[in-house]
Amino acid sequence: MIVTGERGRNMAFGSKLVAGNWKMHGLRADGVALARGLAERAAGAGRACELLVCPPASLLTTVAGVLDGCGIALGGQDCHAAAKGPYTGDISAEMLADLGCRYVILGHSERRHGHGESDQVVRDKVAGAWRAGLVAIVCVGETRQQREAGEAAGVVSVQLTASIPDGATSDTLVVAYEPVWAIGTGLTATTHDIAVMHAEIHARVPAGTRVLYGGSVNPKNAAEILGLAEVDGALVGGASLSADDFWSIAGAAG
Ligand code: PGA
Repeated sequence: MIVTGERGRNMAFGSKLVAGNWKMHGLRADGVALARGLAERAAGAGRACELLVCPPASLLTTVAGVLDGCGIALGGQDCHAAAKGPYTGDISAEMLADLGCRYVILGHSERRHGHGESDQVVRDKVAGAWRAGLVAIVCVGETRQQREAGEAAGVVSVQLTASIPDGATSDTLVVAYEPVWAIGTGLTATTHDIAVMHAEIHARVPAGTRVLYGGSVNPKNAAEILGLAEVDGALVGGASLSADDFWSIAGAAG
């Protein structure tokens, strides 16, 4: 199915979503070069998956301009729960939407662990994203210690229940399963563990909700991971900083 990148995901139903999380990388020249690389590739051919990039907030306007009309969606990496107010350094979901974002990543482990965000904080942010009309990509995942203690499924189940407000639909929610120990480490969960966890997540979210895998996805392992029926796409960190690598991962999703 060819996805043209229009708003709404019903037309993309059944297609995988490959999302690039640029994290805190890139000055303007870097962002322009990377976005141009993607826009050129997008112009070349139709594709069978939906593509999304989530640059740092400082680059959203610039990247939106470069990607305009090429069918690659734009997203934020975080937002505040409130629409506006005295929150120094924060950005609201409305501000992201105003810059052309359709998605926002919430509850990434670098926010949960690096900034002490609780499930309740994530939940409030998801509500804020929905208020602004954004699709929330809610990240969940266990630490190495929790996996070794056999607690992975329980941890993820609690995160899902506590981080996602009532009223989620497959149009407003995407879940990203990202084992914390796999992020930026070069380690990936086994395809068996990914399939099992994704099946458990699918059972806990509205039918049709896309469940992405994240954690050291790269051009070498993408086909195996994205080939799993339970995996509806990927959230890609490091490899999304190379247009070639991101495009190769996108190709594996087709
Ligand atoms: P990684 O990051 O691909 O660099 O492991 C993934 C993520 O943090 O979303």
